Amino acid sequence: MGEQAPLPASRGAFIPPVVWDDDPESDGFTPVSLHREPARWHALVDADEPVVTQVADGEPGGDARTPTSSCSKPSLVAEMLDALDLRPGLRVLEIGTGTGWNAALLRDRVGPHGQVTSVEIDPGLAARARDVLAATGRDVDVITGDGAAGHPSGAPYDRVIATASARTVPRAWIEQTRVGGLVLLPWGTGYGEDALTRLEVRPDGSATGRCGTRLSFMRLRQQRRHRLEPDEDELRAARRSSTALRGPELYEVVEFSRAAFTIGLRVPHCHLTVEDRDERHRDVELHDRRTGSWARVGMIRDEHPWPVLQLGPRELWNEVEAAHAWWRDAGRPTPDRCTLTVHPDGTHRISTGRHRWPLEL
Ligand SMILES: C[S@@+](CC[C@H](N)C(=O)[O-])C[C@H]1O[C@@H](n2cnc3c(N)ncnc32)[C@H](O)[C@@H]1O
Repeated sequence: MGEQAPLPASRGAFIPPVVWDDDPESDGFTPVSLHREPARWHALVDADEPVVTQVADGEPGGDARTPTSSCSKPSLVAEMLDALDLRPGLRVLEIGTGTGWNAALLRDRVGPHGQVTSVEIDPGLAARARDVLAATGRDVDVITGDGAAGHPSGAPYDRVIATASARTVPRAWIEQTRVGGLVLLPWGTGYGEDALTRLEVRPDGSATGRCGTRLSFMRLRQQRRHRLEPDEDELRAARRSSTALRGPELYEVVEFSRAAFTIGLRVPHCHLTVEDRDERHRDVELHDRRTGSWARVGMIRDEHPWPVLQLGPRELWNEVEAAHAWWRDAGRPTPDRCTLTVHPDGTHRISTGRHRWPLEL
């Protein structure tokens, strides 16, 4: 991997005058205006943290608990650029233009003989990024559209980088990358965090590579995670049991630990959400919208077993406990022991060295 180039001093030039900050009162986000609260705005923008730049897809009065665009954490942006192994003259496709900051950094690294195309699904964000990139003198082709389709007219690319995460790697990204080129994306199942995954495109049209750093990104719009919200009657009818796992192993399953990534690979279509009730109590929910299966585990710190409620045809909690046992017996593989291969027919296969299996998508 190449040496890291310095990032431009400030990402402030790319960030809009209104950003969104955590609001503990509402469990969502509250707007912070550069003009009204300059110190707070600068503190957010200058920190090595992601800055939320849009909620609720920009819908006025939309659900301010749902961030839908952000400018990523600078140290992670640097790590991703480094993993892309950029050189002058390369042709790069970015998915998820957002503020345009990462596109500008890509542009700076590929130099005057390179080319950067960036696709953003949100027309308002794309228009703003196009203007800011032009104003800062960066020649980037910003396309408004669904990045899952790539941008065929600019192909082949040497590099594709997604700054929105995916559960299913779109075939277009692989087909539009030259053999030996790289596709870098945050990839994962929705159970726990994603992993930074770097795929190399092979002559047979497949792409393969290791999963790496654990991270958390917004999903591609069409691959967003969805929750199930059972009503009172359904809750009354839920099957009741309790957790069989004990002590630290329980926390491995329900906290965003290194076990969770692999559990997600073993329990298909299972999405995990965690909500703190107070300092000692936390609700851990598992959702499979496809089959209408749901489970809630009422976590009580320093006490066990925990009560389990399960609904629907799948017993998601039991599946998760079985996957944890598999993970333990398989030598506790971490994300960086997992290799993902995406085949030309779209099949995704995982290998941990000793074990290989196809993923149900
Ligand atoms: C984490 S932000 C990207 C950050 C951006 N690279 C930057 O430097 O500011 C993710 C972006 O992906 C966009 N997005 C989500 N789904 C998309 C899709 N299918 N095609 C293109 N963009 C998408 C979102 O609208 C959002 O702006």
